[in-house]
Amino acid sequence: MNDIHIEKEVKKFKDSQLLSRLLSYAKPYWKMILLCITLAFLIVVSDLARPYLIKVAIDGHINGLNKPMVVMDAADSDILKPYGDVTLWNGKAYARLDSETAAAFALSLPSGASKAQIVKVGGSQWLASEWIPPGQLERVVTADGGLKLPQQDGRVIAAQPLESSALDAFRKQDYSGFAKLGAIFLIAVVGSAILSYLQSNLLQYTGQTIIFNIRQQLFHHLSRMSMSYFDRNPVGRLVVRVTQDTESLNQLYSQVVVNLIKDMIVLIGIVAVMLQMNVKLALLSFAVLPFLAVLTFWYRSVIREAQRRSRIILSRLNSFLAENLSGIRITQLFIREQRQWEQFDHHNTEYYKAGMRGTVINSIFQPAIGFLGNLAIALLLWYGGASVIEGGITFGIVYAFTHYVRQFFQPLMSLAEKYNQIQTAMVGAERIFDMLDEKPAIVDTKEPKRLPAHVRGEIKFENVWFAYTEEEWVLKDVSFTIQPGQTVAFVGATGAGKSSIIQLINRFYDIQKGSIKLDGVDIREIALDDLRHYISIVQQDVFLFTGNIASNIRLNNQDITEEQIREAARMVHMDDYVRSLPDGYQTLLGERGINLSLGQRQLLSFARAIAFKPQILILDEATSNIDTETEIVVQAALSNISAGRTTLIVAHRLSTIQHADQIIVMHKGKVREIGNHYSLLAQRGYYYRLYELQYKEQKATMQEAR
Ligand SMILES: Nc1ncnc2c1ncn2[C@@H]1O[C@H](COP(=O)(O)OP(=O)(O)OP(=O)(O)O)[C@@H](O)[C@H]1O
Ligand SMILES: [Mg+2]
Repeated sequence: MNDIHIEKEVKKFKDSQLLSRLLSYAKPYWKMILLCITLAFLIVVSDLARPYLIKVAIDGHINGLNKPMVVMDAADSDILKPYGDVTLWNGKAYARLDSETAAAFALSLPSGASKAQIVKVGGSQWLASEWIPPGQLERVVTADGGLKLPQQDGRVIAAQPLESSALDAFRKQDYSGFAKLGAIFLIAVVGSAILSYLQSNLLQYTGQTIIFNIRQQLFHHLSRMSMSYFDRNPVGRLVVRVTQDTESLNQLYSQVVVNLIKDMIVLIGIVAVMLQMNVKLALLSFAVLPFLAVLTFWYRSVIREAQRRSRIILSRLNSFLAENLSGIRITQLFIREQRQWEQFDHHNTEYYKAGMRGTVINSIFQPAIGFLGNLAIALLLWYGGASVIEGGITFGIVYAFTHYVRQFFQPLMSLAEKYNQIQTAMVGAERIFDMLDEKPAIVDTKEPKRLPAHVRGEIKFENVWFAYTEEEWVLKDVSFTIQPGQTVAFVGATGAGKSSIIQLINRFYDIQKGSIKLDGVDIREIALDDLRHYISIVQQDVFLFTGNIASNIRLNNQDITEEQIREAARMVHMDDYVRSLPDGYQTLLGERGINLSLGQRQLLSFARAIAFKPQILILDEATSNIDTETEIVVQAALSNISAGRTTLIVAHRLSTIQHADQIIVMHKGKVREIGNHYSLLAQRGYYYRLYELQYKEQKATMQEAR
């Protein structure tokens, strides 16, 4: 037999299959997702704008004073407007040039224009009448009538020192520039915060809605599965599927997908901005990318396996826990704590090891990415710093680059985490789809037959062979007919197959050979809902749902009135007891409510069966836990109820079934004898022996009592 605790490790789906199925769930919400991506785009734009704004502040304003300028008469100041802010001083108009325009103007200036530049020499600023080559700015000295350049044959350039009032005039545009940049910066920050808030809420909403649908589908699917499915799958595992695995999918929808797209936009955006700012510096920063690719490739290949393993073991651990906690009563009763503990310890250690492996891999990957990022910044400082001094690159660009490089590596640092989430989600998706793909073993035929409002209730077994697992026959060639309205009893030793017969009638399991007919129709052709609608089964072990007494009798069937509930309870003699409770029929059961005794549970399940007014009533040792006095009452009620209904009774106490129209004696999966009490006794066969045994016992106890 297969060990039901072994989680299937076979992989059934290709990643592409999983993805397309995952996407199909997101499809109805594509508008939301598109909106989120648009928001992500805007957020990225505002994030990337910040280093650029600082660059403009540094190059354009902090260091703007010493830029090359063109000069014209104040009257012609309009001509200078296109180049930027114009400073009017001393009857002239001055405009600063950026390095490209300056390079173009170096060859030919517009007519009527001349060059000028403010240069800092020996602690004060001078207005020179020419442009100083960038590499020489530091080395200019004062000389008679102006400034002297160290190279160019020591030529002297006409220049005049600037008063502080003059400097203020030239600086004025910088102060207003700071104010403007500051405002834009603030808008970018606030805008990004608001958009992020909107985006994350929208994403959560979308993710939760998708997962809500998936959970609903899963539960609906599970509730249609056949009993054999639940025989194979421990409840703990199913709980993990519906709760934990769907949650991992939620992460995928609400965080991973859009954030991955966002990261892509960030990466592409940064590459574009850097290339546009300075090609050389950009290529230099990208020199570490091949190492990054190798590292990521290595990571991908090792982490995937580690995470898969860890998930499988976790699921095993969860099933183990769920099962053992629900069986804790037995564990403690039989003092098996030590053994259980060892098993738990084994699973727990395995999970710990699997988790540690993932942690070790991550603890290599993340710092390595961080190292590559810092290496890129070191390269930038080495080359960029030197270029700033030589005048090839402005300080603002180097500053912006260091920021962009850091921003570039940020998504890569959290790549590990995202990869983890994707893997977890993929494993979850695989198991969810695996579960959804498992067809219920017992389904309606294409055109199921509907039953009329009233069935007669004739049940016919014809050469039925049945096994729970391959070829281990539990029922062998069983045939019998139950006439409409008859009361039929099944007797036989433990394991003879009585309960199995009963579970076949409402198709909890399907038979392998032969046929079972209800009113002459094979039950496999009858709509399942119809079939089960007409049959009520009262079993020995009664399951109570969380809720009150009334809801446990009614089981969500709103057609059953309060009065009918009370009537049913009265028939099984529970009404008095229930009414003695402070909350009556509204008394909560289980968990935080009262707990009924085993016998009371059976009575309640009796009431449940009666309230549903089935046309076929099946009782599987339903009175085994009820005291003799109550049982007699219930029997009386039963003969009332069973009048006009086909009733099947499984009982060990033969005294309770003597009045049955037919008694079917089972032995090792076969029908041994059929007849009524008297004819069976007359046969002096198996039934006779059973009866003798019980009768003698009874007589002995009665004599003892005397
Ligand atoms: N869900 C199941 N999966 C596999 N085998 C099962 C299952 N339920 C019962 N069996 C097997 O089927 C055989 C018949 O069991 P069944 O429950 O029908 O006996 P029974 O006559 O009702 O016994 P009892 O008087 O103890 O209730 C047993 O040998 C049992 O091991
Ligand atoms: Mg049984």
